[in-house]
Amino acid sequence: MADQSYVFDNAWQRGRARLDAVEAFLDPGTIRALEGLGVAPGWRCLELGAGGGSIAAWLSSRVGPAGKVVATDLDTRYVAERADAANIEIRRQDIVADPLEASAFDLVHARLVLEHIPQRDAVLAKLTRSLRPGGWLMLEAVDYVSGVPVSELGAAEHARSQDVRLRAFGAAGLKADYGRHLPRLMRAAGLVEIGNEGRVFVMEGGSPGARWFQLSMEQVRDRLVGPERLSDAEVDRMLGLFADPEWAALSPIILAAWGRAA
Ligand SMILES: C[S@@+](CC[C@H](N)C(=O)[O-])C[C@H]1O[C@@H](n2cnc3c(N)ncnc32)[C@H](O)[C@@H]1O
Repeated sequence: MADQSYVFDNAWQRGRARLDAVEAFLDPGTIRALEGLGVAPGWRCLELGAGGGSIAAWLSSRVGPAGKVVATDLDTRYVAERADAANIEIRRQDIVADPLEASAFDLVHARLVLEHIPQRDAVLAKLTRSLRPGGWLMLEAVDYVSGVPVSELGAAEHARSQDVRLRAFGAAGLKADYGRHLPRLMRAAGLVEIGNEGRVFVMEGGSPGARWFQLSMEQVRDRLVGPERLSDAEVDRMLGLFADPEWAALSPIILAAWGRAA
């Protein structure tokens, strides 16, 4: 089990830069999807695994002084920097081990969180219980089915290194196809009015998506190098490709799914 702790610890020296890249890459689509749910002044929201804090900050401005945002994370150092409005409560909390109030939220949102947590079924049930009647759960998770090379440059290296990465992250608890299961899991949890939409991007070297991949690879390179994994030279080659504007690959699907408590 020791291998199953969260591998992308925010405390890493470049953790802020990594979360900045995720936010630059994904916030526009996340905000469109949240707007689609009608997030409005006065709502009580939970932002689980708030990471760099940008979505907690956006929700805070959207729900206004009559609303509230509870922003939780295993490591809240960056949320505290960015999301410090009076209507935000920051909680250092492990969603697996720590309690969460029931029937409390009009919106619960988590992006790129549950696919990393082996106990994701129990977490989804806990999040569902935390909704007020009529409250929305919106989860965004990866599905790597789309993650194919685009440029000839680095195509073989990308395919091989992604295979190694997904095996290593899988051993640490990542479910790399979690996105496609969300609608069914939400229905099984008793939610209604379920919808979903996936976003896929061409990630060109140097873009925020490629930078997210680059920093993730740097952070966990120790797990990627070794027998039947990658050599140090192969990791260095990929890190270079992620920064090369001539390189491109399709991103994983970022699958957003939503449903509301009856
Ligand atoms: C890939 S980051 C995504 C951050 C943010 N949601 C975003 O999309 O910009 C995953 C976040 O989930 C947090 N996390 C992982 N496991 C957690 C747990 N068991 N309880 C609470 N937060 C957790 C991590 O600390 C990290 O900040």
